[in-house]
Amino acid sequence: MNLYKYVSDAINEKLGMTVNLEVPRNREFGDFSTNAAMVMAKSAGKNPRELAGDIVPKLMELEFVADASIAGPGFINIKLRDDFIWDAASQPAQPRAATPMTIDMDYGSYNVAKSLHIGHLRTSIVGDTLNRVAKFLGHKTISYNHIGDWGRPMGLVIAYIESLHPQWPFFAADFDAAKINPADYPITAAELDTYYPAASARGKNDPEFLDRARQITADLQNGHPGYTALYNLFLAVSLDMMDGIIQKLNMMPFDKTLGERNASMHLDGVEKMLRDKNLLQASDGAEIVPVRRDSDAEPMPPFMFYNSRGADTYEATDLAAIWYRKKHDNPDKIWYLTDARQQLHFKQVFRVAEMLDLFPVENLEHLYFGTINGPGGQPFKTRDGNAAGLLDIIDMVGDAVRARVADAGKTLDNDTIESIALAALKFTDLMHDVKSDYIFDPAQITSFEGRTGPYILYTAVRLNSVLRRAGVTTPVAAPELSADERNLLIGILDFERVVQNTFENRSTDLLANYTYDLCQLVNTFYHNCPILRDDVAPQTRAARLHIAAAAQRTLADAIGLMGLKIPAEM
Ligand code: ARG
Repeated sequence: MNLYKYVSDAINEKLGMTVNLEVPRNREFGDFSTNAAMVMAKSAGKNPRELAGDIVPKLMELEFVADASIAGPGFINIKLRDDFIWDAASQPAQPRAATPMTIDMDYGSYNVAKSLHIGHLRTSIVGDTLNRVAKFLGHKTISYNHIGDWGRPMGLVIAYIESLHPQWPFFAADFDAAKINPADYPITAAELDTYYPAASARGKNDPEFLDRARQITADLQNGHPGYTALYNLFLAVSLDMMDGIIQKLNMMPFDKTLGERNASMHLDGVEKMLRDKNLLQASDGAEIVPVRRDSDAEPMPPFMFYNSRGADTYEATDLAAIWYRKKHDNPDKIWYLTDARQQLHFKQVFRVAEMLDLFPVENLEHLYFGTINGPGGQPFKTRDGNAAGLLDIIDMVGDAVRARVADAGKTLDNDTIESIALAALKFTDLMHDVKSDYIFDPAQITSFEGRTGPYILYTAVRLNSVLRRAGVTTPVAAPELSADERNLLIGILDFERVVQNTFENRSTDLLANYTYDLCQLVNTFYHNCPILRDDVAPQTRAARLHIAAAAQRTLADAIGLMGLKIPAEM
């Protein structure tokens, strides 16, 4: 149950107005409070305490209210009945969106023949969780790994391979795809990783090479058979590597791995729309759409449809991707998750989509991220000073967990270590406001105490172990609740609201921080309310086990939405 909504709807109905319902920090006097009397008094010119006196008896009529009392200048505190809380928390959470939508979610969106780096962490982790949250609420999602597989980097990599293996047949005029045996041209993932950086460095001081790469890009985009065959070879290597990361991060598989190349096949349709509306302008050999508006305070360069070499641009393929998604999925919304540096790009694309009446612009959302910095506040680097690859980062967190576990004199198997490391990495990413930068410190995020993934897992493992040791739990009637028991149950009943808010605000930090707060409540309960100790009366034990089971269910749901794995022991 969404407790907040249930209580607030019932009060609104009872009083015939929309009241402002708050959750007080200290629950001693009430589970909820409202300033309704003070708001009404203002417009009616009456004394707020007197008005509150009229409202209280009405609230007392609600079946779930145990007590309503006036405080201060006219606040009303509302305390819920224990048996109501008890029964509500006994039901599993089943939040449902009022209006289920279809959402195309574009996240991950890795690049072919370029290694994954720290910049791909947030789009992967936050994207996967938002996808799980949306599904949990009953929305239909279609996830797109919109791979970067079509631009200049492809030409650079092919030109580089040509310089390494000029004798390979892909570059020959008489190339014949039928004669190719892929096994004769092995490209390992490790090799491929080095090609793009090497090629782009070479392009910077070798104009001839750069020119060659440009030409190859255009030829590839026009279907050159040799380049296409070579491209397909390293595409397979890249897709394999992406799969490895997706599994390592325990992400759901993408519904569609379709990127710029696929979109480019739909450019003709989009170009026709642009020409029909007379939006394309020739400019120095390129074709552009001016998108600047008088109200723009920031620079707003034109949208480039074809560049001066006639190559498809990143912008154009994104426009065509909207066309494709509309045709195939007809989504209510399209979400894009990338870092903040792509804001201008998406503004331009969305403006042209609007000019074309291609897609309602308010339903195109760019959710952008801040940067992940190292402990010094500078962009995160590996120990040898290089930009950190995604795999390096995952390994680094694994090593930090191993060191901690060894320090604590524990031995844990490798799967457990990996689950803990995954939780450390993902939880820290999810708990930060997506738009702000944050500092990534492997030592800190792997601590078993504080606002960390390992702490969350540890709490879940502990609950699981208590429930396992207790054996079957039987349903029990509502007992009189202690403060710690009440607080935990009310925390559990806040879960649905948090999931809704996480979705509505596209803010995974709400879910992550809620989960941490819930763990705090669990641990306080666990500490103050012994369960399996010999001196605990059977009745009390049964009731506490019931609470522990409800907490375990909720925590497991929350952990599942974050895509973490709960180990058997820690
Ligand atoms: N491949 C791009 C990158 O790694 C992200 C693509 C985002 N999605 C999109 N439709 N443009 O930065």
